[in-house]
Amino acid sequence: MSLDPRAERRRPSLSSPRRDVLMAGAAGLIAAAALPGGEAAAHTAPSGAGRHGGTGGFAGKTVLITGATSGIGKATAYAFAKEGARVMFCGRRTELGRSNEREIRDSGGEASFRRADVREESDVAALVTECVRHYGRIDIAVNNAGIETPRPSPLHQQSVRDFDAVWRTNARGVFLSMKYELPRMLSQRRGVIINTASISAEAGFATIAPYSASKHAVASLTKVAALEYADKGIRVNALAPGAVDTPMLRRAAEAFGTTYAEIAQDYPIKRIVHPDEIARVIMFLASDEASAVVGTDVDASGGYLTG
Ligand SMILES: NC(=O)c1ccc[n+]([C@@H]2O[C@H](COP(=O)([O-])OP(=O)(O)OC[C@H]3O[C@@H](n4cnc5c(N)ncnc54)[C@H](OP(=O)(O)O)[C@@H]3O)[C@@H](O)[C@H]2O)c1
Repeated sequence: MSLDPRAERRRPSLSSPRRDVLMAGAAGLIAAAALPGGEAAAHTAPSGAGRHGGTGGFAGKTVLITGATSGIGKATAYAFAKEGARVMFCGRRTELGRSNEREIRDSGGEASFRRADVREESDVAALVTECVRHYGRIDIAVNNAGIETPRPSPLHQQSVRDFDAVWRTNARGVFLSMKYELPRMLSQRRGVIINTASISAEAGFATIAPYSASKHAVASLTKVAALEYADKGIRVNALAPGAVDTPMLRRAAEAFGTTYAEIAQDYPIKRIVHPDEIARVIMFLASDEASAVVGTDVDASGGYLTG
């Protein structure tokens, strides 16, 4: 046992399976198959969507968000709409997408849902085309869609199928999204891209090799794109959430029989972050206030990566 609890925390021992599971579940986001009726565990919709209550800070901007049927993406779609942006968003669950679209519009915001699977090149290409056709441009792209490791286990027990599923969604999905967003932004000579990475992009976590590898890839794709387009008016950054109250984290907590209170102990702020707090980090990175921020993976975990 290390005298440094953080060293212990970061290097869970394979000889301590329960501890490993808690570590990975708490910090790196594991989780098994989705609970039946998954979205039943969704967080409550952010309040005040639409024009009411916002300052209009993103009025006239078009924002494209992948994976906004639930969780962080949903909170981000609502937050941008509240600030006056036009939001095009995707996910695979059409009913949820339509319901979010309706809720934003009913409260005075502007949003459009299009079903798209980020693993499919043709879906991503069509999503980008639809955004430009409908709203004329893409000022801000939030490439957020992601899944957790379906079956946490040591690497040699991970199936190729699970590795591919996570890789195709998290890494290939972000690659495809940027591949189709960037040409549009180049023609506009302006744009901002924010990719949702994770603290798993910055540290290794036992039992979730597919997720951790995919998020390292997101951070890497972010850095490379940032370098390639920084002098062309396009800023690319990532953010690294830790434990955020979303269906993904709820699945993880349930699957591993742990509680939010236990998970929170791994973080200096000793609490679970609300998706609205992540939305605000994304909005900062998207804003002109972040004009000098390029190619980073911003720690939005409440200090996990500090020590
Ligand atoms: N919650 C956390 O503690 C945490 C921590 C670090 C990083 N993250 C990252 O944050 C992002 C959002 O996760 P979340 O926590 O908000 O989980 P979530 O509630 O499960 O949301 C994931 C979103 O991604 C979408 N998605 C998944 N696969 C997709 C696909 N193939 N094509 C299109 N959309 C897809 C889902 O929509 P459909 O199911 O409708 O397709 C859903 O809208 C992920 O990249 C995740 O890795 C989360």
